[in-house]
Amino acid sequence: MVSFIFIMFGLGWGVSSFLICIADEGPKRAKRPQPPRSGIEFVSPEIRAFQEDDFSSPAMLWATRGEHLWQETAGPRGESCQSCHHDAAQSMKGVSARYPKIDEPSGALLNVEARINRCRTEKQKAAAFAYDSESLLALTAYVGLQSRGMEMKVTIDEKNKARFESGQRLFSTRIGQMNLACTNCHDDNYGRKLLNDTISQGHINAYPAYRIEWQDFGSLHRRLRACFYGVRAQLPTAGSDELLDLELFLAWRSQGLPVETPGVRR
Ligand code: HEC
Ligand code: HEC
Repeated sequence: MVSFIFIMFGLGWGVSSFLICIADEGPKRAKRPQPPRSGIEFVSPEIRAFQEDDFSSPAMLWATRGEHLWQETAGPRGESCQSCHHDAAQSMKGVSARYPKIDEPSGALLNVEARINRCRTEKQKAAAFAYDSESLLALTAYVGLQSRGMEMKVTIDEKNKARFESGQRLFSTRIGQMNLACTNCHDDNYGRKLLNDTISQGHINAYPAYRIEWQDFGSLHRRLRACFYGVRAQLPTAGSDELLDLELFLAWRSQGLPVETPGVRR
């Protein structure tokens, strides 16, 4: 059955109305848009030009900061990331394409930000960076840059299956005052206009990214929180298990797309 719902948008996306088409298929199985199309295909030519030119891309400033931080020493032994990992172009190549990943000894699901903070606290013995702090964003951008152009490819296996399924459930569960699930917009309505945005398939291959609307560089979890806010749902904390589960599912959904980190979006 297909129903049309007329929705009034309040604060999050400005006051506007929007016609959305929701196919009611009952419980959703793991599906993803085929072929996957990057969010860059849904932005204006101006924004696309920003991302495609490293000299004008505001996002590249964070990667450059990350390159400096890579060499900065911290902790009692005076070690930098470079002391252990040497040339990032070699040691970090492919990392952002295959994360989030289960950390073998602890069993924890780590995205790139959490992995960097593990090294920060356990290897360097220095204080963890706050989520969305300039330093953590810069290092995540720099690590991500080493995978640019590589295909997103996360492995789903016995170790991360439960986390994946939790993320998949979250993606198709209706939330907030608007009672909408991620899938209602990013599977069922991509290509449609929502105010100044064109809804994309909701892929994660550009993050962390510079958003014109933020006038700032931000993490994937910040972007996801903006979607929770848009439907008037309770906001999960950046770095929380809930958002990590979603990130794992979204990484699987984005598979095959090239890493664009550090990207630019509206
Ligand atoms: C009411 C429609 C709507 C819902 C529901 C929604 N989003 Fe979004 N989302 C958007 C819009 C609009 C954008 C900005 C344009 C775009 O799609 O890239 C966006 C952007 C994104 C992006 C960034 C894509 C990119 O290339 O920059 C991701 C990832 C995303 N959403 C994931 C989610 C997840 C996960 C959920 C569920 C928790 C969700 N969205 C719920 C409308 C929605
Ligand atoms: C004292 C050595 C040491 C330092 C300093 C160090 N790391 Fe690590 N790092 C490791 C080891 C060893 C691993 C492999 C996983 C493990 O043993 O926990 C690793 C793993 C990683 C990974 C995951 C790589 C993969 O292929 O999955 C990333 C990303 C990373 N480190 C980033 C950093 C960053 C960024 C810094 C600086 C803030 C840093 N590391 C500092 C030793 C170090």
